[in-house]
Amino acid sequence: MPVWFEWMFVEAGLASLDSNCLSDVERAHLAQLRFERRRAEWLLGRWAAKQLLRRVLPQMANLPLSALSIENSPVGVPQVRLAGERLPGCLSISHRDGGALVAWTQASSGHLGVDLERVEAHSAAFAADYFTPAEQHLVAEAEQKDVALSCLWSVKEAMLKALQTGLRLDTRAVEVLALPTLEGGDWTRLPVRGPLQDEQVWLAWMRCEGQKIFSAAWCGAALQEIHWRRWIAD
Ligand SMILES: CC(C)(COP(=O)(O)OP(=O)(O)OC[C@H]1O[C@@H](n2cnc3c(N)ncnc32)[C@H](O)[C@@H]1OP(=O)(O)O)[C@@H](O)C(=O)NCCC(=O)NCCS
Repeated sequence: MPVWFEWMFVEAGLASLDSNCLSDVERAHLAQLRFERRRAEWLLGRWAAKQLLRRVLPQMANLPLSALSIENSPVGVPQVRLAGERLPGCLSISHRDGGALVAWTQASSGHLGVDLERVEAHSAAFAADYFTPAEQHLVAEAEQKDVALSCLWSVKEAMLKALQTGLRLDTRAVEVLALPTLEGGDWTRLPVRGPLQDEQVWLAWMRCEGQKIFSAAWCGAALQEIHWRRWIAD
């Protein structure tokens, strides 16, 4: 059976953001966020996720976006509720510089993480503190060191979300083993390793659009025949 990984990237300027898309629980959460930047990125992430879910969930056919409620678990993982019931599947959200990357799969035999970064310069101390010696070697060998380091960081963040720990776990506990040659702008698999339980596997992907880096990771049961499908917001 093919497994679909549905995704969307939205830039704030292009989105017709509207807090009417929020559920009562989400409205209450938004009201507690004090910083304008955080409020804006949080709302963009919710709006983008709901635009995506509206397209891929048949139950949403005749319902307003506010029928969905995306609430964070105690450790921060976004979970989707419809009429109070948690929907099976995995959602992941990342925001950066006025953009939001969201992805969803109905597969529920593992966890999905995505991360959005942009290529930027990092200090030598950053590389030494957060990356394994083998990853530092990959960067040293790379022609474009800033690109390599930004890509590695993005994949690590996606993996830490798939583990549901975020940065509570040492970033060196997950490792990128090689950087792919990114051609054609599609999602490209790359080898990674990290903590696993019995019967679990790691899968990781990356794609670049200009200076933007999109990463994704799956930690869970092996999945055959994965298809990525991009959706565009209205
Ligand atoms: C998860 C984490 C790695 C995200 O890092 P980031 O690059 O700053 O932010 P991103 O925009 O890429 O991702 C944020 C989204 O990650 C998701 N997220 C948060 N915690 C998560 C977790 N433990 N597992 C999976 N996803 C998580 C949320 O959906 C969040 O967006 P939302 O708050 O709008 O719902 C980071 O926030 C983290 O480690 N948090 C947990 C530990 C913590 O709070 N530490 C304090 C800072 S060190």
